[in-house]
Amino acid sequence: MNPLFIVLEGPDASGKSTQLRLLADALSARGIGVLTTREPGGTPLGERLRELILSPDSPMNPLTELLLIIGARHEHVERVVRPALEEGKWVLCSRYTLSSLAYQGWGRGLDLDLIRRLNQLATGGLEPDYVFLLDLPPAVAYERTRERDRFEGEGLEFFTRVRVGYLALIRSVPRAHVIDGTLPEERVLREILGHLPLPGI
Ligand code: TYD
Repeated sequence: MNPLFIVLEGPDASGKSTQLRLLADALSARGIGVLTTREPGGTPLGERLRELILSPDSPMNPLTELLLIIGARHEHVERVVRPALEEGKWVLCSRYTLSSLAYQGWGRGLDLDLIRRLNQLATGGLEPDYVFLLDLPPAVAYERTRERDRFEGEGLEFFTRVRVGYLALIRSVPRAHVIDGTLPEERVLREILGHLPLPGI
């Protein structure tokens, strides 16, 4: 079967990194070659951009933030995601184009069509095969984030706009599933696995 490109989305502290790891283990145990990665980041340049984007010491305009994220995404898609898929690996990625629509669009108020166009430019149209949104009430997400990077320092109203955005956007994303991020981690994993076409089970 063709390798799958799977994206986990959700607010800060919704358990994306834990699920990425658990999912990678579960797939590897079935003999599937996987690559786990994240945005912003995933390449040496992308990780440096990530530091700038998240640092509370570098305030920036929303459009600057978007353009840096889009630049990091282009590097990531071209240098990491596409090559891995071409090698036959499944790619498991924390955050992708939907994050920009939810955070820079619904959160920061930038134009959604502009973000869609820039996403298209950055990805060359590479869409995920599956998207899982780990949904969390904003108050829970906010409580769970201890360190405050530039996004986590935004406060509850920002988290609320992002969540409303995610839930609105996800309805038009093919093969996207909303999963209750308050469930225990094994339950979340089971739900994700239940939606995937897995060989040999
Ligand atoms: P992430 O590492 O996923 O943070 P966490 O593990 O806390 O969920 O993402 C870092 C931040 O980057 C997160 O607060 C959201 C932000 N972000 C955007 O605003 N737009 C984007 O397109 C992406 C990929 C991330």
